[in-house]
Amino acid sequence: MAEKAELRIGGDVIELDVIVGTEGERAINIEELRSKTGLITLDPSYANTGSCESSITFIDGEKGILRYRGYDIAELAEKCTFLETAYLLIEGKLPTREELDKFRESIRYHTMVHEDFRLFYRAMPKDAHPMAACSAACASLATFYPDSLDPRDPREVEVGVHRLIAKLPTIASYAYKHAIGQPFMYPDNRLSYVGNFLHMMFATPCEPYEVDPVVERALDLLFILHADHEQNCSTSTVRIVGSSHVNLFASISAGINALWGPRHGGANQGVIEMLQAIAEEGITAKDFVDRAKSRNDTSRLVGFGHRVYKNFDPRAKIIKKACFDVLARLGVNSKLLEIAVELEELALKDDYFVERKLYPNVDFYSGVIYNAIGTPESMFTAMFAIGRLPGWIAQWAEMHDHQHKIGRPRQVYQGANERSVQTIDER
Ligand code: SDX
Repeated sequence: MAEKAELRIGGDVIELDVIVGTEGERAINIEELRSKTGLITLDPSYANTGSCESSITFIDGEKGILRYRGYDIAELAEKCTFLETAYLLIEGKLPTREELDKFRESIRYHTMVHEDFRLFYRAMPKDAHPMAACSAACASLATFYPDSLDPRDPREVEVGVHRLIAKLPTIASYAYKHAIGQPFMYPDNRLSYVGNFLHMMFATPCEPYEVDPVVERALDLLFILHADHEQNCSTSTVRIVGSSHVNLFASISAGINALWGPRHGGANQGVIEMLQAIAEEGITAKDFVDRAKSRNDTSRLVGFGHRVYKNFDPRAKIIKKACFDVLARLGVNSKLLEIAVELEELALKDDYFVERKLYPNVDFYSGVIYNAIGTPESMFTAMFAIGRLPGWIAQWAEMHDHQHKIGRPRQVYQGANERSVQTIDER
C-alpha cells in the first residue's frame, strides 16, 4: 500500500500520494493539489521542490555521494573516458568497445562547423566572453542544420546530439582563437576528443603541436566530473526550455547562458580571480576569509557552498588530488594552489562555514588545473559547458520521454487589486 500524506486545510483533510525513489528519497506528489483544494505550493528557489523523477544522476548531499546511472563518480573517473561517460549518461549504459568505437566515429565525423560559421565570430568584439559566443553559436547551429531540429524524431535527435557533442569544442576553441587574434584551427580527427580540443585551442598553423598526455588526461577527467549533476540551475533551464518543443540546439544554448552565472558555472572563473586578487593585493587568506564572512562585505568564498552538498562535494576531492598530481607532472609550482589549500583549511575550521555546512564545491580547485594547463580564465566556464553537455542532453531527452506537458509554474499574485485606468489628463 503506497504511503499517503494528509493535508489539513480548514476543516478539510486530503490525502496525497508519497512517491519513494530507488535510493529511498520520498516526495509528496502534489499534481492534483490545485484540482482537489484550489491551493498551490510556493517554493521560489525550488529548494524543497522536485521537478521530475529522473534515472540519470543520484546525489546524496549529506553523505557526499554522486553517481551517474548508478556508477560512483570516483570509479567512473578512474576507469572511464569522457566519451564513455557521455555515452553512459545519454544511452543509460556503459558502451561495449564496439558501441564506443561507433559513437566516437560518429562524433569525429561532425567536428567541423560550416565554413560560413567562421564569419559569425568576426561580428564579435575581441573581448567577447566565450560563453556569449558559445550560447549564440550553439543556438545558430539550428540555422545550419534544419534536418536535426524535430525533438520528437529519434533520428533527427540522434544526429543533433552527435553534432552538438562534436561541435561544441570547435565552437569554444574558435571563440578563444578569435579573442587572441589567432587563426582558427580545423579539427584534427586523428586525435582523441580532448586531444582535438587542445589542438584547436593551442596549436597554430606555424608550429607543430603535440598534445601533452598529462594535460589530455587531466582535461578528460575534469569533463567526466562535470558531465551531469541532476537538476541544477542550467539543467533545469534546459528541461523547461526543451518542454516548449524548441529544438535541442536552442535548449542547450539556454543552458549555456544559465551556467555562465557567477553563482553557478561562472564560479570556476571567479575562484581564480579571487585567488589572483589575494595574491596580487598581498592580503592573507585569513583576511579574505574574514571578508567572505562579513555582512558588510559582498565578497564570498567563491567555490564554496552548495545547494545540495552539505558535506564534501566528491568532485572537489578528486579534483584537488588531480591538482597536485597534474602540477607535479607538469613541474608547475602554483601559488594559487597554495592559497586555495590555505583558504580551505581556514574555512573548514571556521564556525561561520561549519555552521552553514559550506564545503569546497566542484569549482574550487578546477580553475587551478585549467590555469596550469594554460587555459585563460575567460574559457573556464566554456570548459564546464563542454563537460556538462552530455548531462544536459540526457536530461533533455529524459524530459521528452516522460514529461508530455510544457513546464509552466504558477504564482501567488501580490500586486494591485483591480482599478480603473485614468486618462493621461486625469493623472
Ligand atoms: C555549481 O546545483 C548544482 O549542482 C551546481 C553545480 C553543478 O555541478 O551544476 O554543482 C555547479 O554551480 C557549484 C556552485 C558554484 N558557485 C559558487 O561557488 C559561488 C559561491 N557559492 C554560493 O553563492 C552559494 O553557496 C551557492 C549559490 C552555491 C548556493 O547557494 P544557496 O544554497 O542558495 O545558499 P545561500 O546563498 O542561501 O547561502 C546560505 C548561507 C548564507 O548565509 P546567511 O544568509 O544564512 O547568513 O551561506 C552563506 C550565505 O551568505 N554562503 C556563503 C557562501 N555560500 C553561501 N558565504 C560565504 N561564501 C560562500 N561561498
